[in-house]
Amino acid sequence: MKVLVTGGAGYIGSVVTEELVNDGHETTVYDSLCEGHREAVDPRSSFIEADLMDGAALRRALKEHQIEAVIHMAADALVAESVEDPAKYYRNNVVAGLNLLDAMRDCAVRKLVFSSSAATYGEPEKQPVEEADPTNPTNPYGETKLAFERALRWFERAYGMRYASLRYFNAAGASAQFGEWHDTETHLIPLVLQTAAGVRPDVQVYGDDYPTRDGTCVRDYIHVIDLARAHILALRILDERSAGYNLGCGGEGYSVREVIDTAREVTGREITTRIAPRRPGDPAVLIASSEKIRRELGWQPEFQDLRVIIESAWKWMSRHPQGYGK
Ligand SMILES: NC(=O)c1ccc[n+]([C@@H]2O[C@H](COP(=O)([O-])OP(=O)(O)OC[C@H]3O[C@@H](n4cnc5c(N)ncnc54)[C@H](O)[C@@H]3O)[C@@H](O)[C@H]2O)c1
Repeated sequence: MKVLVTGGAGYIGSVVTEELVNDGHETTVYDSLCEGHREAVDPRSSFIEADLMDGAALRRALKEHQIEAVIHMAADALVAESVEDPAKYYRNNVVAGLNLLDAMRDCAVRKLVFSSSAATYGEPEKQPVEEADPTNPTNPYGETKLAFERALRWFERAYGMRYASLRYFNAAGASAQFGEWHDTETHLIPLVLQTAAGVRPDVQVYGDDYPTRDGTCVRDYIHVIDLARAHILALRILDERSAGYNLGCGGEGYSVREVIDTAREVTGREITTRIAPRRPGDPAVLIASSEKIRRELGWQPEFQDLRVIIESAWKWMSRHPQGYGK
């Protein structure tokens, strides 16, 4: 397939593009580089540096590259920033997203895979979280992801646009070539490894008095390659139907302390921690039920072991201690 990957210069987009090309697809990355990196674009892919707000550039990209499907990953994705500046999130994650859908309608591109988020659930009443559970986002980031998912439902009904919404839990790890490097990093594993590498003095643990096995929050980590492969499976169903899936590994998840201890073992380095107050809206446990995507698409994670995830991230970071381009 000829696939446009919006946000393909970002962390997850870089690996999704890599896996698409490995699977024989032809890719065009569309990214403004507002957060991503030129070096994170797979050299086997075409690249267009443009913003989703630029409707003319979008239409040109869809037509000139004869795009058949879009994987829409471009977004702003910082929860705390979204609370401080919701306008930015509605503009980029909803308005710019609708701009993409308009361009797709104009160019008769009717297949889309969307990067949604566990943040659409808010603070779930039960674990593991299933797709049919209530959605009550507790921040504008989650709200904007849910708003776009809902738009997709109506766009399918009115315009025949097929979609797969993938609600990611915590993407982590790296491929041999591409890894995670954000200017503002909020994800636990890169923060822990940057501390191990001496880039940061310490890592904050937000609350150690949760009702969990060691008092710290428990999360579901999914290797970015396993996540990427789910997109390829999702693309295949769009000839027949639309769908929504959680994307996590399920199981028991891993606590913040377990992540830090495993990182100490993998890196052999000291990692200083600092206990900080709980963050508002942080559930004690957040684990995906991934039964639906396993059952319907035959998705099977290959790298779900935390040590394997951290080893891959550490390997990448050891080769890129200052991130991309340095
Ligand atoms: N990282 C996670 O664990 C996680 C979890 C749930 C959902 N997600 C979602 O997955 C997607 C990718 O996440 P990521 O961690 O790779 O983020 P990222 O910030 O690394 O990548 C996003 C990319 O989109 C680009 N972009 C943003 N706005 C744009 C615009 N208007 N026009 C063109 N390009 C634009 C950025 O330059 C960046 O390269 C996002 O939609 C995010 O909300 C991520």
